[in-house]
Amino acid sequence: MVKPMKKPTGFANLDLSNYWLPFTPNRRYKSAPIMLSSAEGMYYKTENGDKLLDGTAGLWCCNVGHGRRQIAEAVKNSLMQLDYASSFLVSHPQAFELSERLCDLAPDGFNRVFFTNSGSEAVDTALKIALAYHQARGEEQRTLFIGREKGYHGVNFGGTSVGGIDNNRKQFTKNLLNVDYLPHTLDIERNAFSRGLPEHGKEYAESLLKIINSHKASSIAAVIVEPVIGAGGVIPPPKGYLKRLREICDQHGILLIFDEVITAFGRVGNAFAAERFNVTPDIITIAKGLTSGTIPMGAVILKQKFYDAFMEGPEDTIEFFHGYTYSGHPSACAAALATLDIYENENLFQRTIDLSSIWEDALHSLKDLTRVKDIRNFGLLGGIDLSADTDTLGQIGYKVFRACLDKGVLVRGAGDSILLSPPLIIEEDQIDQIVTTLKTVIKELN
Ligand SMILES: Cc1ncc(COP(=O)(O)O)c(C=O)c1O
Repeated sequence: MVKPMKKPTGFANLDLSNYWLPFTPNRRYKSAPIMLSSAEGMYYKTENGDKLLDGTAGLWCCNVGHGRRQIAEAVKNSLMQLDYASSFLVSHPQAFELSERLCDLAPDGFNRVFFTNSGSEAVDTALKIALAYHQARGEEQRTLFIGREKGYHGVNFGGTSVGGIDNNRKQFTKNLLNVDYLPHTLDIERNAFSRGLPEHGKEYAESLLKIINSHKASSIAAVIVEPVIGAGGVIPPPKGYLKRLREICDQHGILLIFDEVITAFGRVGNAFAAERFNVTPDIITIAKGLTSGTIPMGAVILKQKFYDAFMEGPEDTIEFFHGYTYSGHPSACAAALATLDIYENENLFQRTIDLSSIWEDALHSLKDLTRVKDIRNFGLLGGIDLSADTDTLGQIGYKVFRACLDKGVLVRGAGDSILLSPPLIIEEDQIDQIVTTLKTVIKELN
């Protein structure tokens, strides 16, 4: 039974029945609700007035920290000036300005942007672009997508299909797209407690050749991977793995999509993981850190060849029958532009690089705790696997999350893992607080 938080104050009279929370055991939540009421810098405040150090940047998104006035002002001004503008047939200057800024940040050759409202929509848009691109070039038989076990690509039908987390697919299996999966690269036997990129496992990329042999290369539209798996457990790629995937895709005319919804915007130390790993995909999806979580927004960033392939027909026909009411919403553009300014002015991507060895040392100081099976880190990402007993299997992460919360630290519990992704503005003493709290809580599990 979950211990309720201290007696609630501000929500004592709230009816909790109507709201269905996503990705949450609702009955458990409602028996012991956690209500956040405000946020500033590295901290949330709960309705009870407790301060919580944010070890997760909200949900991998609040990279510049909370309560940034500059973003709030930009959004306010944008709302007052242009509350809404459709992006079908009309537009507004900030959407163009943001596209240009994003292309300046993106790897060489990426110069087209398609806006969405979330990571899930960015992924589904990218998959549709891949299919339509092949069709436009006379390769309409390329319809198969290749995802990866443990991959997470959002919850729309395309993203659910290419996602490799069984729980997310099992209620929908009969309605999903035709997909095959690369094996994941988590190899604790050979790589336990790797610091940064693991040494072993480049050869997992060769599985793509096996998939190609069983399906025919010419039937495959695209491979989609997160450069570092996030929600599936924070799994950095083995050294050389992404490069090998790129080579194989190139040899067989297969598109490579990097889902950078988590890894972009400084999480791994550069604007994009593609740059950090020096591997250039064909298509990149982004969201989260794009607005530091303040206003929902996602995007697909592409090389010009995609755009050009669509521009062949008569000029007065729609080239791509796709888009959202809120694509390029003015408030979201304003939030994103202000967020990009903060990244730049505060040199936050470099800050990740500067902090990453401190972060790595701090996380790996938990290595000798009996329950700790593996620790993984890259940039300002961390994953800790814990061993559970038969009666707590799949629940240890939640137990640790809840116990850390009682001690004023927000971490993410997922199954029997703890996932960490603090805002990039984190200070050394706050890293220490996260790790010290985890140490106490994990020890108490024994
Ligand atoms: C890699 C990746 N892709 C896509 C998504 C989906 O993004 P959203 O929740 O904004 O739809 C997420 C969300 O965590 C993600 O981590």
